[in-house]
Amino acid sequence: MGKVEKLRLGVNIDHVATLRNARGGSLPDPVRAAEIAAQSGADGITAHLREDRRHICDADIERLAREIDLPLNMEMAATKEMRDIALEHQPNACCLVPENREEVTTEGGLNVAGEAGVLAEIMSSLKAQGIRISLFIDPDPEQIGASATLGADIVELHTGTYCHAHAQRDKRQTQNEIERLQSASLLAAQAGLEVHAGHGLCFQTVGAIAAIPQIVELNIGHFLIGASIFSGLPEAIAEMRRCMLTGRSSTGGRS
Ligand code: PXP
Repeated sequence: MGKVEKLRLGVNIDHVATLRNARGGSLPDPVRAAEIAAQSGADGITAHLREDRRHICDADIERLAREIDLPLNMEMAATKEMRDIALEHQPNACCLVPENREEVTTEGGLNVAGEAGVLAEIMSSLKAQGIRISLFIDPDPEQIGASATLGADIVELHTGTYCHAHAQRDKRQTQNEIERLQSASLLAAQAGLEVHAGHGLCFQTVGAIAAIPQIVELNIGHFLIGASIFSGLPEAIAEMRRCMLTGRSSTGGRS
């Protein structure tokens, strides 16, 4: 077996902002959630500044970049508006995602080959400032090849279809999706890309993904913030870490 890298946990705090925005005002504060996540052993903070600002707003990105002492992974659509905001606040990484106005959450990965021109333009100025580029893609060989060709640093593999199959208790599709994620991770690592994964992960689904040795970072939000209502954020993060460690250990690797 090849070297198994440490598995990092990026905590996505978008849905603290969703709760805040349900009433207006400033509470609960997503930046406070990021502070608690940092104190609870998160390796990074992820926040998605959507075009419609339905959860994270511009001031949150500004404060996260200024006040939080952890790498910031800014999820964003590949638009000039978002690029300029990222250039202003200099996150550690930008994760480019597809965005549709009516969707409840990010529904699928980027069509990297189909949108190569737009992506290349946005990527070049971010990369010139030393911001790492992650492309959120489905675990599809064509998208991996296109991401490598375009010069991405990272691919984040969309785990939503796997998590949906698991929630439906469809064992066959769950297994198929795990295998798709395994071979995509291997292919991406062979192409020189750093491999991340995320979307829809929970205590039950994270282990099989943590067991994929090429994956070095998971970004998890909605479930963690939901679990924190009952247990508090430090305990939700600690339990997620335990589940990640159990999965990772099954590969003989560290976590
Ligand atoms: N990764 C990406 C690229 C995402 O868009 C999201 C959702 O914002 C996540 C990870 C986290 O997904 P979830 O909130 O379902 O854990």
